[in-house]
Amino acid sequence: MSAKSKILLTGGGGMVGRNLLEVAAARNVEIIAPSSRELDLMDRLAVSSYLKYLKPDCVIHAAGRVGGIQANLREPVLFLVQNWDMGQNLIMAARDAGIKQLINLGSSCMYPRNSPDALREEDVLSGALEPTNEGYAIAKCAVARLCDYIQRENPEYHYKTLIPCNLYGRYDKFDPAHSHLVPAVIHKLHRAKENGVAAVDIWGDGSARREFMYAGDLANAILSAIDRFDTLPNLMNVGLGHDFAVNDYYRVGAQIVGYTGEFEHDLTKPVGMMRKLTDVSRAQDWGWSAETSLEDGLRATYSYYLESGVANVLSAG
Ligand SMILES: NC(=O)c1ccc[n+]([C@@H]2O[C@H](COP(=O)([O-])OP(=O)(O)OC[C@H]3O[C@@H](n4cnc5c(N)ncnc54)[C@H](OP(=O)(O)O)[C@@H]3O)[C@@H](O)[C@H]2O)c1
Repeated sequence: MSAKSKILLTGGGGMVGRNLLEVAAARNVEIIAPSSRELDLMDRLAVSSYLKYLKPDCVIHAAGRVGGIQANLREPVLFLVQNWDMGQNLIMAARDAGIKQLINLGSSCMYPRNSPDALREEDVLSGALEPTNEGYAIAKCAVARLCDYIQRENPEYHYKTLIPCNLYGRYDKFDPAHSHLVPAVIHKLHRAKENGVAAVDIWGDGSARREFMYAGDLANAILSAIDRFDTLPNLMNVGLGHDFAVNDYYRVGAQIVGYTGEFEHDLTKPVGMMRKLTDVSRAQDWGWSAETSLEDGLRATYSYYLESGVANVLSAG
């Protein structure tokens, strides 16, 4: 894609979108990113007129209704309907406006639950989904299939889906009510350091393994995808291809935050699934792999946590 290409991003105010906009700005790549107030993807007519008027060369769909297990369990209707509606409104409007290039963001929740092997792209829809966020996952699978079907019906349209693994990084959500493992660990260790807590508890024995990639790496992958759109596979995992034990996140996190106390394992607490790992051979064959080490990623995330004032706000709350 040329330097003058017009790129439209949805979800520019979210964690993925803000990381993408930051990395893109550092490389002088211009991206148009209307907020949900400027362009509500639930409003089909508004989306249709916006795309017909703007006529971007490429659309990146990173908006969605995203939430933790509790929110997904409480409101499966909302997660299913909103993610499907946003996806289909945008993708059908892009097709109707004659936009030939689109990158849709999926999620590793599209894969069957409890898979013993690393998840390969062809495993999507090959088994039962995780019940705790099934509505969300069904919508993600359906939107990815819609992209596929559009290409199948008309090969001039290249609508491709990237499947990122779990992410952490700058612009993450650190509030314990909404946070994933990595920001939760950072916040917990920071509080423990500030309050001189002698021991931090870890749920279970800490051996469960999790694949978390630095969000800046996903931003790099999306920019590479825009650059080399023609060779980008239709469906591609974007992950580390390796994982770390929960204990590793605490150990490295403690070094970065400067927490010098002990860890105590609470074996009465649930540990969740033991492992969920993406197979990244397709991305490697395409010529991309994640570059940020866990140490560097955690350092950048902790700096954001301190500089953005999130640490102070949460400590005051
Ligand atoms: N974060 C992860 O660990 C992760 C991992 C794998 C895949 N993903 C995928 O990456 C995508 C983005 O995730 P994220 O973590 O960046 O989520 P996020 O931080 O919750 O951001 C969601 C974005 O979607 C926008 N949005 C929500 N409803 C909208 C609407 N009706 N119209 C227009 N925009 C709307 C939000 O805009 P407002 O803030 O203005 O409402 C926000 O910018 C999702 O597809 C998710 O499945 C994320």
